[in-house]
Amino acid sequence: MTREMMRTAVLGWSFTVALLGAVLGQNTSYEPDPHWQAPADAAARGNPLAHKPQAAAGGKKLFLRNCTECHGEDGTGIVKKHAADLQLPVVQSQSDGALFWKITNGNPDRGMPSFSRLPELQRWQLVLYLRTLQSAGPRSR
Ligand code: HEC
Repeated sequence: MTREMMRTAVLGWSFTVALLGAVLGQNTSYEPDPHWQAPADAAARGNPLAHKPQAAAGGKKLFLRNCTECHGEDGTGIVKKHAADLQLPVVQSQSDGALFWKITNGNPDRGMPSFSRLPELQRWQLVLYLRTLQSAGPRSR
């Protein structure tokens, strides 16, 4: 391949990726990392705010402040950031404890930061709020 051909190929590829991102907008093709799994005891933890649905309002504020830059306001995930679409059944079908664990630990290698700096109850509030993002799909609880 000549240098010129290389350049054309690279440009064409970047263009295709950019176009795809623009068309899709949300990250519906997101697939969870099979190696990023909460240990069983963490996944089994229940949300201590489960009986305080009003706490989701605070969770929304936290979400808008900390999460939308990658997940978007509706949680569907910004393609350019490779962020998860949090409305997808593959995410919503996970237990509260599993989502709490993922928010706490993050998956830095794939771009999800750890939020262990947020107080524990705020992380549970976020989980509560994540549950309001969708109406479709069964929940495993
Ligand atoms: C800097 C970008 C970024 C920010 C900020 C961010 N996320 Fe993420 N998040 C990601 C990426 C990227 C993934 C997918 C990681 C992967 O591929 O394993 C992800 C995955 C997740 C998942 C797990 C999805 C699964 O695979 O099961 C949850 C839950 C989640 N984020 C919640 C949050 C919450 C709540 C916040 C705010 C407190 C937040 N994220 C902030 C980028 C971000």
